Amino acid sequence: LIDQKKLLDLGLRFGPLAGMYGFFAFLILGFAGYGYYWVSAEVVPPQPIGYNHRLHVADPKGPGLSCIQCHQYTDKGRQAGAPPLLPSPEWNATWGAVEGKTAYDQAKKNGKSDADAEKASRMAMKAARLQKTGPVSCADCHGPDDPAELYTAAGDRGFWDQVSAKFESPEAKKVVDHIRTKRPVHWHRVHKMPTHLYFSHKRHIKALRERDEIKEIEGDREKIITMCRFCHGEVQMMGENRQVRSMEMGFCISCHKSRGAPTDCWTCHK
Ligand code: HEC
Ligand code: HEC
Ligand code: HEC
Ligand code: HEC
Ligand code: HEC
Repeated sequence: LIDQKKLLDLGLRFGPLAGMYGFFAFLILGFAGYGYYWVSAEVVPPQPIGYNHRLHVADPKGPGLSCIQCHQYTDKGRQAGAPPLLPSPEWNATWGAVEGKTAYDQAKKNGKSDADAEKASRMAMKAARLQKTGPVSCADCHGPDDPAELYTAAGDRGFWDQVSAKFESPEAKKVVDHIRTKRPVHWHRVHKMPTHLYFSHKRHIKALRERDEIKEIEGDREKIITMCRFCHGEVQMMGENRQVRSMEMGFCISCHKSRGAPTDCWTCHK
């Protein structure tokens, strides 16, 4: 009965003046009102650790990570996900079983003790995993070299002071402290849609990959940054005081229109 497309066009054109048109107009154009912008992209309390995107992604002095190495579920689920503080104990064994065994045998052949051979095996497994998956947890770079020491050295303050001494920045030392105590970091959410709105990363990453012909999601770092940038802005350049682009409904709709994706209200409003 009501032509949604027309309604929307009207709304987008006259929305900002909504307050001037009485109640009826407000009903029609209401979506351009206070709810038009993301509520929570505006004020975020200071994060528990001054994490710095620029340093980890774009800075030539940094490790040059790709967005999906840390936000691992961007192409797999609704939520992009926060990076884990610690590696899962199974990862090294899963990815580096062969390399671990070889290193162990080699060490024994060279007359090393069991303990030394086991350490050589752990280090080889970790190296193999890092080569295959890249670093994915904070502790891969901010923790001790030998993954077993994450647990065996837990009470040894002198040991952890040495780990900490590798980093100059007090913020990086805070990360080491979380790794030592295994206390998760409770990051404050920046983007948060109201619960009655639906969004999923997976579908959008798929669509953007098709557009940019990105075959291997792990592959091209620059192309991945371009995908994220489409909605999140220049995250790779953001330092500690991250400003975040607010995404308005018109932004979602105009892309949906241009790409033939659904624009019915209930696509997004559940
Ligand atoms: C592609 C997704 C999408 C579609 C389709 C869509 N909306 Fe929205 N809508 C949003 C987003 C995103 C917001 C901003 C929510 C926020 O942060 O407050 C929003 C906000 C609104 C608001 C402000 C109040 C609120 O719910 O937060 C109204 C009213 C609204 N939309 C009505 C409509 C109507 C009517 C249609 C169909 C013509 C429609 N929307 C279609 C995504 C969509
Ligand atoms: C089509 C737009 C779009 C693209 C492309 C996109 N995002 Fe998002 N992102 C959003 C929206 C919308 C939210 C808020 C979702 C919510 O509140 O449920 C969000 C939330 C997030 C969050 C916090 C909540 C969560 O899902 O864990 C992270 C982290 C994130 N995005 C990372 C990324 C990364 C990394 C990429 C690129 C690989 C990316 N996004 C690509 C729109 C997008
Ligand atoms: C690939 C390795 C790598 C990974 C993974 C990594 N970092 Fe870093 N991080 C670095 C390097 C290199 C530096 C710069 C060290 C220095 O300046 O001493 C750094 C610096 C930092 C700093 C100091 C920032 C500043 O402005 O001084 C913080 C905080 C930090 N990282 C937090 C994290 C957190 C939290 C994670 C997990 C989500 C993480 N890092 C994952 C390599 C990494
Ligand atoms: C070293 C791991 C790491 C890398 C690499 C990384 N991020 Fe993040 N990202 C984080 C951490 C930790 C947070 C939470 C702290 C914060 O919000 O600053 C975060 C937060 C975010 C958020 C805000 C989430 C929210 O709460 O709404 C977005 C969006 C985001 N990252 C996008 C990206 C994009 C895009 C890239 C690539 C340019 C990227 N990230 C690369 C670790 C990483
Ligand atoms: C890059 C352009 C683009 C932007 C920006 C965009 N979308 Fe989409 N969206 C698409 C495409 C293309 C599809 C269809 C994907 C498919 O059919 O696999 C889609 C599908 C959807 C769907 C239905 C499929 C699903 O995920 O279950 C929802 C809901 C949705 N988008 C919400 C949003 C919201 C909310 C925003 C704004 C925050 C947004 N989109 C921004 C391109 C976009």
